[in-house]
Amino acid sequence: MTSSRQLQNPSISTSSSSPSSSSSTARDRLSSLSSHIMGSNGNPSVFTPAAVAAAPEDPLFGLMKAYREDPSDKKVDLGIGAYRDNNAKPWILPVVKKADDAIHNDPSVNHEYLSIGGLADFTSAAQKLIVGADSPAIREKRICTLQTISGTGAVHLGGLFLSKFHPAQPKPTIYLSNPTWANHNQIFTNVGLTLAKYPYFSAKTKGLDFDGMIAALRAAPAGSIILLHACAHNPTGVDPSQEQWKQIAALMRERRQFPFFDTAYQGFASGDLVRDAWAIRYFVEQGFELCVAQSFAKNFGLYGERTGAFHFVSAPGADASTAIQHIASQLAILQRSEISNPPAYGARIASKVLNDPVLFAEWEEDLRTMSGRIQEMRRGLRERLEKRGTPGTWDHITTQIGMFSFTGLNENQVKILRDKWHVYMTKNGRISMAGLNTHNLDYFAEAVDSVVRETS
Ligand SMILES: Cc1ncc(COP(=O)(O)O)c(C=O)c1O
Repeated sequence: MTSSRQLQNPSISTSSSSPSSSSSTARDRLSSLSSHIMGSNGNPSVFTPAAVAAAPEDPLFGLMKAYREDPSDKKVDLGIGAYRDNNAKPWILPVVKKADDAIHNDPSVNHEYLSIGGLADFTSAAQKLIVGADSPAIREKRICTLQTISGTGAVHLGGLFLSKFHPAQPKPTIYLSNPTWANHNQIFTNVGLTLAKYPYFSAKTKGLDFDGMIAALRAAPAGSIILLHACAHNPTGVDPSQEQWKQIAALMRERRQFPFFDTAYQGFASGDLVRDAWAIRYFVEQGFELCVAQSFAKNFGLYGERTGAFHFVSAPGADASTAIQHIASQLAILQRSEISNPPAYGARIASKVLNDPVLFAEWEEDLRTMSGRIQEMRRGLRERLEKRGTPGTWDHITTQIGMFSFTGLNENQVKILRDKWHVYMTKNGRISMAGLNTHNLDYFAEAVDSVVRETS
């Protein structure tokens, strides 16, 4: 019998899903025969279907599957959170290819374990990249960094640390933007933190609901943890301005709130690494104690290599460097118990690029290629919709930044786009701009125009 779990997640192997050889098929038959003969002599199952309910399918991965199975040659994938080139193909950054070749040809590279904290050349470079080489946190030795399983692993490690070591009783609530990257909810729930939301997106302006955000942060208890997207907010593509970041920081200082930055798109948003790190650097300069979950999936195109880092910055003070050593030692224990030590490959590639000025400059060029193409698609889409006179306003397509755009299309419109036009996007109307290209832009604009008219 095929289990319902297996139907939900075909990528997770179950014993009945894919026998790898005829001998395993024979073994399966033998084992089912022997359990039939033995009847109830074995221990009864504890983990029955009634005890373990089937989990709902991950919406994003379900969307990807539906797209793959759609035979239409017109289909457009705007769900995927990964960069695609103008031919809708994954793009290996030229600088990554170069670093990869160099690693392959380096006879000193082996397959030994990394240390618990990861590749030291990588973590020190990741640190400088996000807080700046001249950061007071580095100068005063009050920052520690561990290599993690990409950004997801960094968010998890940070959440776990806060839930175990935050000295307040009860533990502070973590406030997430509404909406936020869906996985934030699961990760922070799994580590036992209490979650709350702060308003972020204004459906009316399709921009930042700054007043709503500020009011919610003011009302949040002193000492709360506030999850902030450093740049290119997922899913809205809406970021605070530098002036607004300053006001957020001032309020959070007054309320003694703890910033937890998630940075998954540095350099990918504006094309400028320093500009995209501005908010984090500002908060560090303001003397906040904070943490940062950093992903290299998007900006290096190292999605599958799971390359990331978690940084903790202690507040300035006489005890700061002792505190950070204690924190680093506890983080190392958490890391050891979960993954023992992180994977080497992606970190080697990133480290090679980050530590070599020539390769670094080539990387910046690659980042400009990706962000530039996305900006071009934003301009192209807005232009086409405005030219057609599609009902509504479309300026938000170019004011939002980064990989995603919150189009304002509703669930019904998204459904028609999928059923009638073979255009795939998440139910909340988010599109990945990277899925657009010069071959499908006209088609997508035509589809949006038609659906908006049909439903208005
Ligand atoms: C806001 C945000 N945080 C973290 C991540 C983590 O990504 P990864 O684990 O692939 O680095 C993502 C990826 O989509 C994201 O959008």
